[in-house]
Amino acid sequence: MVFQITEENITQAAQIIINGGLVAFPTETVYGLGADAFNQDAVARIFEVKQRPRFDPLIVHIAAYDALPRLANCARLPAQRQTQLGLLARNFWPGPLTLILPKQSAVPDIVTAGNDTVAVRLPAHDAACALIERSTGALAAPSANPFGYLSPTCAEHVEAQLGAKIDAILDGGTAQIGVESTVLDLCGAVPRILRPGGVSAGDITCVLGAPPELPQESPTAIPADACVSPGQLSSHYAPQTPLLLIERHDKPPRTAGVAYLYISKAEHPALCGDEYVFLSAEGSLTEAAANLFAALHRLDGGAWTQIIAEKAENNGIGRAINDRLIRAARR
Ligand code: TXA
Ligand code: MG
Repeated sequence: MVFQITEENITQAAQIIINGGLVAFPTETVYGLGADAFNQDAVARIFEVKQRPRFDPLIVHIAAYDALPRLANCARLPAQRQTQLGLLARNFWPGPLTLILPKQSAVPDIVTAGNDTVAVRLPAHDAACALIERSTGALAAPSANPFGYLSPTCAEHVEAQLGAKIDAILDGGTAQIGVESTVLDLCGAVPRILRPGGVSAGDITCVLGAPPELPQESPTAIPADACVSPGQLSSHYAPQTPLLLIERHDKPPRTAGVAYLYISKAEHPALCGDEYVFLSAEGSLTEAAANLFAALHRLDGGAWTQIIAEKAENNGIGRAINDRLIRAARR
């Protein structure tokens, strides 16, 4: 069920995908639950296993830029947007950036939830790319968690949440980045971030020479089927334990049974005890992002009555941390 990363095991996992099965695999962001993007029955099983609503489209993962034309019809983009696509792919692929592009008609509607756009990503992870290449070259893969719950950053998270329902898990250790890819829509009037993630708005601005449009920081309760990108559902990435989010440096109430999640130990040197969890020793946002979901999984498995979490600085990958915390608080 859980396979270590070896050449043989990757080949065996690829065969499972070719045969229409589901394989959870590591990426640099979080673990994905992959199926052949062109096998509608296999993709339908992803939705069933995750209990994911069919209106929420999937990201298709490729292992090389030259696989893109099979999925996206970039000729439908205006010339300026095609240039921007080239710049973004050269600078951020492989890496944690998902691009929304006009879809090829051959991409099954179940993958794109009937949209005429497709989300494509080229992960920066050798085992993921080997799996993609040795199977069908295009894997539809959402994060490998039940819909709305915390994303998995190690094989144990996947096994605990979905192990009995899927065909194999490739264990690549802990995901390096720890939050999902940035989703950037290139099909609108201007490039627009739909989900903050591993590539920051600042990085994208440097490459494009102009800032992308940003998502609202604090999403209001948009009806699910009216979302442009359903990952924007206001409640998502949520633990079972109620989570209260506080602003930076706000003093939370000290109550028995409550656990406290802070970004930086260095900012709270006096706090110690099991109830205090720090995502980074010195306040590195990169380190905090990498530890975020694992900390929430651990706290959620404890007997805490509530988790009180402090927001990160709202820049760089801190935006992605805050986005996940805000949604976790809106269960
Ligand atoms: O880092 C990641 O992106 C991970 C790893 C496994 O690659 N995948 C991931 O997939 O986070 P998922 O399904 O959990 O999130 C995909 C997001 C959702 O918010 C979905 O609504 C959005 O991408 N999306 C997919 N296709 C889209 C489309 N055609 N238009 C707009 N949003 C789309
Ligand atoms: Mg997800």
